[in-house]
Parts: sequence; structure tokens; C-alpha cells
Amino acid sequence: MNNCRASIPACCTDCHMTQRLTVLGIETSCDETAAAVIERTPGGPGRILSSLVLSQVSDHRPYGGVVPEIAARSHIANLDGLISHALEESGCQLHDLDGIAATAGPGLLGGLLVGLTTAKALALAADLPLIAVNHLEGHALTPGLTHGLRPPYLLLLISGGHTQLLAVKAVGQYIRYGTTIDDALGEAFDKVAKLLGLGYPGGALVEKLAATGDSDRFHFPRPLLNRDACHFSFSGLKTAVRQAVDDLGSLAPADKADVCASFQEAIADVLIDRTTRAMVLFARHFPTVRHQVLVVAGGVAANAYIKSALAGLCRNRGFSLNIPEPSLCTDNGAIIAWAGAERLAQGMIDDLDVSARARWPLDLDAAPAPGAGVKA
Ligand code: KG4
Ligand code: ZN
Repeated sequence: MNNCRASIPACCTDCHMTQRLTVLGIETSCDETAAAVIERTPGGPGRILSSLVLSQVSDHRPYGGVVPEIAARSHIANLDGLISHALEESGCQLHDLDGIAATAGPGLLGGLLVGLTTAKALALAADLPLIAVNHLEGHALTPGLTHGLRPPYLLLLISGGHTQLLAVKAVGQYIRYGTTIDDALGEAFDKVAKLLGLGYPGGALVEKLAATGDSDRFHFPRPLLNRDACHFSFSGLKTAVRQAVDDLGSLAPADKADVCASFQEAIADVLIDRTTRAMVLFARHFPTVRHQVLVVAGGVAANAYIKSALAGLCRNRGFSLNIPEPSLCTDNGAIIAWAGAERLAQGMIDDLDVSARARWPLDLDAAPAPGAGVKA
């Protein structure tokens, strides 16, 4: 992926590579309005000077999922104030910044337009470079912000909107090993929670109940296990859960706990199988990388059961496991500011006519997954 249409002169790029950069990041791709200011130091981890996230979860809860129109209106109502507060808290004024970054996709188009248009206006007014960030690149580069970790490494992205395995080769360069052909993993957790009447968003609620349940009680399918490619499919698993719930009729608390535990175990088995396969591909593509790292990002990375399964896998396969802290795994402005700073450091900036895009794969050369729906 290299969407950069404008570029800064080579001499300035050299300065940017070695300079500290301070960047404002704006995130409005889904149901969080977020703004943050970060400082990038070459080589080292970054510093978060401020990071504010306004969750719209309570606005969407009555509908059991994100309503795009409500999300866009809420971004409009809150973004300007949030940016002012983020700047104030960081101690920076607009003229102290080196660039303005905003998520330009993938995501809900209405929300993306709110954030990107605001970023364009600020960049124009303050005569600063604009960086249009791929939201997935924000997640992918987070370990640079938190730990100073730079590519190449293997990434498992498991969120409410995406489920992908990717090799992060360099800033703007990705190899997609696998993606979901139907639901995202967080979406599958949310749908199971809804079936059990647990509430929205349901991932953490499913995890909590699963801790008291018997994972051997239901034998749910493990879709696409042992396939050569690293793709995922969760809709069959969700249907099997619905069937089990229907068969039970009325649900006692212990039944719900057993369903959650059995579901979560099936998910962990699938993640381990697919990630093992991706580790083999990564080792083949990057034979000279001695210190192999698996990065896990996205809201589902908060799940302790999944974390511990992946930790076991990493121990067995000689990988280090890097999971950013939960507040940086879920959507926020700091990861967008960081990805923007990393791009800016390499001279990857965008023209003011850059478009928002609902779909925007990180690996533009990846063949569509067989049987895939619309998810990138
Ligand atoms: O990354 P995220 O905050 O938003 C997106 O960009 O999609 O992920 C939210 C998703 C939701 O589907 C939520 O149910 C799920 O992450 N989630 C969890 C847990 N905490 C959040 N899923 C499983 N276990 C958890 N502990
Ligand atoms: Zn996200």
C-alpha cells in the first residue's frame, strides 16, 4: 500500500527520518471519536502527549450494533471539541505540529468523511502536511509506538471489523496471509452474546461467562482448520451455536456459561491453527529475521484465554508475543497519529484531494479469499 500522491523533497525526508515529529491523529472510522497528539523519536518508542477517546457504545447499544448514520452525526457533534482538548492536554498548539493524520479508510464512509475533512481543513489552515492513514496500518504499527518495535513481524489483527493475518514488511508494505471470508472475530463474539441475551458489545461478557463454563459440553465446528491458506470463517460456528441454543430451549446460567466456554475454545483452536500456518509462511518469507515476533492487535486481543493460547503457541514456535495494552489495541487517535508520523518520516504525505474509502486492503496485491464476502 502506498497511497501517497504528494511527496516532500528528499532533503526534507532525510531530516524527517532523524527528527522528532509531533503529529495530531484523528480517528472516526467506526463508533469511537478519537484525537491524540504523539511524538515520534527515530528508532525509539513514541510518546503519547494526549489521547482522548469518546465511545459511542451507549448510542448504539439499543440497536445491538453500530448504526452508521448515528455514528457519523456523533462524530460531527464531538470531533472539534475533542481535537481542541487533545491539543490543550498535549501542551501543543497547531503551529507546534509537524503533520495532521486522519483515518481515511477502511470503515464507515460517513464517519471517515467527518475526520478526513476536518484534518484537511486543519492542514490547510496551518500549512501542515496531511497524512491519510489506513486504519489497519494504525493497528499494524502500534508496537513501534509502545515498544519501539519496527517491522518485519507477523500480525494477527482480531477486532470487531477485521480478522487478518499479515506480514508487516515495512511501513506501507504488507503481505496478507489470511482474512475472514465472512464475519470478523469480534462480530462473532458479539453475535453469540446477542444469542445468549448478554448485551452489546458482548466479547468481554462471553469471556467472563466462559471462565465458569465447561468447554467440553458442546463440540462446535472449527471452520477451515488444516487448510493451506490462513483464511478464517466464523459464520458456520455462529450457526452451530444458534442451533445448540435453539435445542436447549430455555437457558439456565450454567448452559450459557458452557456455550461460551465451548465457543471460546473453538475460536482459540482456529486461531492457533491459522497462526501456526502463518508463522511457517513468515519464516519462509523472512529467513534472515532472527527475532521473530507475533503482534496481536484489535479489541479481541483483550481476551485472556486467547492471549494465553497464543502465548503457548509462541513459546512452542520460538516467537516473541507482543500485545499492546488494551487501550491501544482498541480504536484510538494515538495509533493513527503514530502511523501518520511513521509515514511522514518517510515522506509519504497526501494531497488535500485524497479520498476516504470504505474498503482499503493493506495488501493491494492479495488475491480475494475464495468464497469471501465484502470484508477486506
Ligand atoms: O478493535 P475494536 O475496539 O473495534 C473495532 O475496530 O472493531 O474491537 C471491538 C470488538 C468487539 O466486537 C468486542 O466484542 C470485542 O472486540 N472484544 C472482545 C473482548 N473485548 C472486546 N472479544 C472477546 N473477548 C474480549 N475480552
Ligand atoms: Zn480498529
